Amino acid sequence: MAGNRTFTMIKPDAVAAGNSGAIIKMIEEAGFRIVAAKMLRMSAEMAGKFYEVHKERPFYGELCSYMSSGAIIPMILEKDNAVEDFRKLIGATDPAKAEAGTIRNLFAKSIEANAIHGSDSDENAAIEGNFFFAHSERF
Ligand code: RTP
Ligand code: MG
Repeated sequence: MAGNRTFTMIKPDAVAAGNSGAIIKMIEEAGFRIVAAKMLRMSAEMAGKFYEVHKERPFYGELCSYMSSGAIIPMILEKDNAVEDFRKLIGATDPAKAEAGTIRNLFAKSIEANAIHGSDSDENAAIEGNFFFAHSERF
């Protein structure tokens, strides 16, 4: 059975552009409840750890420097079928391929600076949520 939690981060390009409010509004209007949230800037080392699964990919170095280039807003979200429904709401990785009306279609600047992250499985949602939030920080 699909789980009811996912993890997201509003990425540095979207925070810097002043789009966090509009993005959070879309997330809540789509029926997700924010369970935990904060704002911080990751060090390059922290970004490297978060994206360790991508370390063999050619874009890993650039991704880590981009993700540590400014503030992000990590959040844990709750909704039935959370992981799949949230991936639909954000759209494809490449904004040129993201469906009209999706968060990346509306706010992403490029395939890398693509406004928002969404976990790709229940297992990764739990791992990624635990990376940013201790149990005491959740409701
Ligand atoms: P995310 O993990 O951020 O939700 O994105 P995703 O599943 O759609 O994409 P993934 O393959 O997991 O890639 C993680 C992030 O790396 C950057 N990226 N850059 N330059 C490139 O070709 C490239 N490809 C991916 C993006 O920021 C992507 O979201
Ligand atoms: Mg991914």
